[in-house]
Amino acid sequence: MRTPLRHAAGGMTVSKTAVTAVPLHPLLAGRWSPRGLDAAHELTDAQLTALLEAARWAPSANNTQPWRFAVARRGTPGFAAVRDALAPGNQLWAHAASAFVVVAAETAGPDGAPRPWAVYDTGQAVAHLTVQAEHEGLAVHQLGGFDRDRVAALLDLPTEVVPLVVLTLGRRDAEAELPEVLAARESTPRQRMPLDALLMTLPAE
Ligand SMILES: Cc1cc2nc3c(=O)[nH]c(=O)nc-3n(C[C@H](O)[C@H](O)[C@H](O)COP(=O)(O)O)c2cc1C
Repeated sequence: MRTPLRHAAGGMTVSKTAVTAVPLHPLLAGRWSPRGLDAAHELTDAQLTALLEAARWAPSANNTQPWRFAVARRGTPGFAAVRDALAPGNQLWAHAASAFVVVAAETAGPDGAPRPWAVYDTGQAVAHLTVQAEHEGLAVHQLGGFDRDRVAALLDLPTEVVPLVVLTLGRRDAEAELPEVLAARESTPRQRMPLDALLMTLPAE
């Protein structure tokens, strides 16, 4: 197989900070999803605990707390197993993560009653985690590109517990070598739809 060209992740220095109509908290404006990660970086136990605590204290419907997490640090068999379940494009760079966190939602309660907001709540817990990570100087890149059945089997999950994303946790490294196409994305400004395009209209009377 041809080895893709590799380039340093930083490229030209273009700010990734969100361009906002009014100033935002720097933890929100500064968060982004890098692929260039320091393959030698180790998460401390305190950092990992802080991220999971941030998720744990998220709000949820009826306080059901449907989020579930499985953590694997780089160098462990669990990490290798999750990495192998990632989509090929994600495997190109995610191997340098300091840890993976598989995030799943428990979509039914102990009595079998469906939890309609389980996925919403779990996304919200991850959002909290990403802000705490920014505070800790860590990067989070969420991945939906992975084999859910394979990860569910790895964790021996019951059918109501649904894997949603794999989080790559690590420290950004602008010098990390990446395939050319991915390296270019590390230095392009972040884009969003205009705020106006997100607003819906309620009846005036
Ligand atoms: C649910 C979800 C799934 C995602 N899946 C992938 C993925 O498989 N691979 C990837 O490189 N990025 C993935 N991303 C990252 C998004 O592409 C990224 O958040 C988006 O482009 C906005 O960029 P920003 O986070 O830097 O602001 C995912 C993000 C979310 C929230």
